[in-house]
Amino acid sequence: VTSGWDPDRYLLFHDHRLRPAHDLLARVPDDDVSSMVDLGCGTGVAFAMLRTRYPRAEYLGVDLSTEMLERAASDHPDGEWLLADARVWRPHEPVDLIFSNAALHWLGNHAELMPELISCLAPGGSLAVQMPANFYQPTHTTIRELVDELDWSVNLRPLLPGNPVHPADFYHRVLSPVSQHLDIWTTTYHQPLAGEDPVTEWVYGTALGPLLGALNPAESKRFRSEYSARIRSAYPRRPDGITLLPFTRLFMVATRPL
Ligand SMILES: C[S@@+](CC[C@H](N)C(=O)[O-])C[C@H]1O[C@@H](n2cnc3c(N)ncnc32)[C@H](O)[C@@H]1O
Repeated sequence: VTSGWDPDRYLLFHDHRLRPAHDLLARVPDDDVSSMVDLGCGTGVAFAMLRTRYPRAEYLGVDLSTEMLERAASDHPDGEWLLADARVWRPHEPVDLIFSNAALHWLGNHAELMPELISCLAPGGSLAVQMPANFYQPTHTTIRELVDELDWSVNLRPLLPGNPVHPADFYHRVLSPVSQHLDIWTTTYHQPLAGEDPVTEWVYGTALGPLLGALNPAESKRFRSEYSARIRSAYPRRPDGITLLPFTRLFMVATRPL
């Protein structure tokens, strides 16, 4: 499955992308975990931290991108990796932990998805999810502006990521009836990025990548340069060379009743 995800580009900002996964895992209860699923595992950046935390647990990474999974399998040959669509794939047996870092915002229908994932857990098991909550920031509004304002040979509108990420109280309402413990919070990371055009590079590795993958090379270049010009004025580079990218993320850890 070719999805427009480029592992090398995605991993450019490895440390910034890893930090929320650590912050999420830190709030997962310390109970015995013997099986865990990493939903939308990508290149497997969370594999090592999950393995360290639960050394005896079976790990299964699930993702829809062949490119990302190939990278995961080559970086972490001792993991188990499965090409599957998280919208429909469910574990055969109940698992102790479903972990998902920066992936479920690619799937819609969270009112049904979240309780369904809880039902895939063993009693006392946990669902741990982190998703970006930055849909209304210039990084994302600029993509929508360019799709609307300029002419493209491909209809890009169906490819635009929607905003399935709701406010925290929505997840509290959906998850509290099916959870014993529920912990929901947001964190804004003020990420100092170095380089000429780092915010465009960042978004290229996520929201922009699949969209540009649908355009021909000339159009893709044009989209990127228009995007970059607007983004550089929205996130100016400071004289010391740093560009600050504020990034808000929503976290939730829900534990299935015993
Ligand atoms: C931003 S990356 C996050 C990867 C990894 N969890 C991490 O923390 O680095 C999002 C991942 O979600 C995957 N993804 C998107 N839609 C998916 C779906 N329907 N089923 C499974 N994976 C999906 C993409 O292929 C991509 O690898």
